[in-house]
Formats: sequence, structure tokens, C-alpha cells
Amino acid sequence: MSRSHRISVIAGDGIGLETVPAAIACLDVIADRHDLRLEWEELPWGTDHFRRHGRMMPTDGLERITGTDAIFLGAVGDPEIPDAETLWGLLIPIRREFDQYINLRPARSLPGVPSVLARDVPIDLVIVRENTEGEYSSVGGRQGSGDHEIAIQSAVFSRRGVARVAGFAARLARSRTGHLTSASKGNGIIHTMPFWDEVVAEAVDGVEVRTVLVDALAAALVLHPDRFDVIVASNLLGDILSDLASAVTGSIGVAPSANLNPERRLPSMFEPVHGTAPDIAGQGLANPTGQIWSGALMLEHLGHPEAAAHLTRAFEHALASGTRTRDLGGTATTSEFTAAVIAGIAATESERAA
Ligand code: NAI
Ligand code: MG
Repeated sequence: MSRSHRISVIAGDGIGLETVPAAIACLDVIADRHDLRLEWEELPWGTDHFRRHGRMMPTDGLERITGTDAIFLGAVGDPEIPDAETLWGLLIPIRREFDQYINLRPARSLPGVPSVLARDVPIDLVIVRENTEGEYSSVGGRQGSGDHEIAIQSAVFSRRGVARVAGFAARLARSRTGHLTSASKGNGIIHTMPFWDEVVAEAVDGVEVRTVLVDALAAALVLHPDRFDVIVASNLLGDILSDLASAVTGSIGVAPSANLNPERRLPSMFEPVHGTAPDIAGQGLANPTGQIWSGALMLEHLGHPEAAAHLTRAFEHALASGTRTRDLGGTATTSEFTAAVIAGIAATESERAA
């Protein structure tokens, strides 16, 4: 396994410009301690690029990052530019062109992070979201005008697409507690969702899967989040459930995600679940935990589980010691929390062999 990696960095917009440098500062210290070399290639893509050039990234953008080992992304989006431009101009092309068909979104109770639930139960689950097809399709359009205007959007589910995400989720469940839940809506969406249910049941290969309608699942995630382990879901349902699950653990600011190309033929992308948070951007208030945790997922994917575990211990140590950003009820700024994580790297060094 190589100890030297080239990483494309797209900080993007809003708080991405604050959380990405914060996470890189932590990753550089971790790399140093674990004898790794991380070479960051910073790409100024996002809405500034859009304002100047009419595109979120250059026409050869994907070619420029295809040879790197991973992509580390902040978030993209700006209140003045339609989300369709920002998402479909950068994020979605990367996920699709690099066939990052797994979007892994862990949600776990963290030390020192108060749950929003009255009943504080330990949460440790992973949402496996399909990331390349489903409801996020460009098939459809608008027709007519005035009162007669209509909009049609078609969801596209392929047997191969559903089977591969279900197979991945089943293997992950087997490596954890063995509990797999599939989010469905087969009672209301009568073509694609029964197809999803059928292909998932075939693809999980020996793992028992519990299919739950997504509305009931949303309620159950609030009432009994401790009863879930791995949840497999389509693109839209997984997107919604993962914001819900992360908010239940304390804040959307802590939630990480990995967009994986499991075959490793193409680079995978690591980014927090949250967006650009225009309401707090530029004020030093952003919680960088989701970005730092995404960095830990990246280290793991690159073959450095020890470094990943050390970085995870370090941000948990910072949270447990009471340094918290405002979203978690604290007063720490982004840079104060980052400094606490860096101090946590030294403080949790001795647990390395544990
Ligand atoms: P958001 O996640 O940016 O913000 C939702 C709420 O959570 C806000 O009140 C925000 O202040 C808070 N929040 C989010 N992250 C935080 C952090 N790290 N620390 C402290 N508080 C945090 O979602 P919203 O407002 O729906 O979207 C804003 C923009 O971001 C939109 O343009 C949207 O399209 C874009 N977006 C981009 C994503 C991406 O690049 N992957 C994902 C989600 C949204
Ligand atoms: Mg989302």
C-alpha cells in the first residue's frame, strides 16, 4: 500500500472554504505522525468559477482529477445561483463519471455531543445510499404554461445499479452486526420501488433484510435509532434519511460521507453531508467535524486504518473535552475546535496500539 497520495481538493463555496482548510490542517499532522505523504492539489472550482466562466469547473475538469488518488470536497451551492447549476455542474458529474455508486454515511453518537432526543440511546448506524441513478435523473421536462404547465421527472432504476448497492450493504452488514434494513416506498411508488425491493432481496445473498416503508422508517429513526445498523436506500430516500440520522445524533455538522468507487478503478470522493450553510458562512462558526471525519474515511479508503482511527480518536477527544462549536451548544470557533483536534492527536497517541 502506497504511503504517498495525490489528493484533489475542491473546497467549493460557503463554509466549505472554512471546513476544508481546517480538516487539511488536522490531516497534515496525522500524516506526519503516521509517515504518510499527502499532496494536496487545490482546485478553485465552485460558484466563483461559475460567475467568471459560466461553468462550475473547466471543461476538462474531470480529466484533471481522474489521475489523483482521491477527491476531498467541502460543499457547493450559493443562494444566488440555482442549485441545479451547482449540483449538476460539479458534484453529480463527479459521482457519476467516476462511478462512485456507493454513498456511505455513518451516523454515530459522539462523546460530548448531546443527542437531540429526550431518550439518549447510543446510535451507531451506516446509511448506504445509491449514488448514481434512481430519483436523481435528468429524464423529464416541463411543458405548457400558466395553469396548464406540467413537470415530469422519471426515476431510473437498473437491475445492475440496485444489485450492486444492495450487495455492498449486505457485505457491510455482515462485517458489523448482520442487521440490514432496506428503505422502500413500494406502496406509493408502484413501479420502481417494488423493483427495488425485489432486486435487493435477491442481491443480499444470505443476509436477512428487513424492508421498511420510508415514512415509517423516518419515524423509527427518531423513536428507536438504536435498533438500526446498516440501512440501504435509493438516491433520494438515502439523502433524506442521512440528514435525519445525523441530526438525531446531534448536528448535521458532524456527519461525514464517502462517495466510493469500490473497485478503485477511479478516484473516490470524501465530503461532509452538510451543504454550504450560507447563514453562517464566513463567520468562523462552522463545525469542521463532518469534514475531518470525512478525511478519516478517506485515510481508511487509501489503506491507512491506523491513521484513520487516530484522527477519529482525536476529534472525539476534542468533543469529549468540552470544546464545541455553536451548533453543538458550545462557543468554540472553527479554528479553536481545529486546534483542539490537533491537540487531541498528541493526547491520543498512546492509544495507538490499543
Ligand atoms: P446546509 O447543510 O448548508 O445547512 C442546513 C443548516 O445546518 C443551516 O442552518 C446551517 O447553518 C447548519 N449547518 C450545516 N453545516 C454546518 C456545520 N458544519 N456547522 C454548523 N452548522 C451547520 O443545507 P441548506 O441550507 O439546505 O443548503 C445550503 C446550500 O448548500 C444550498 O445551495 C444547497 O444546495 C447546498 N448543499 C450542498 C451540498 C453539497 O455540496 N454536498 C449538500 C447539501 C446542500
Ligand atoms: Mg443531502
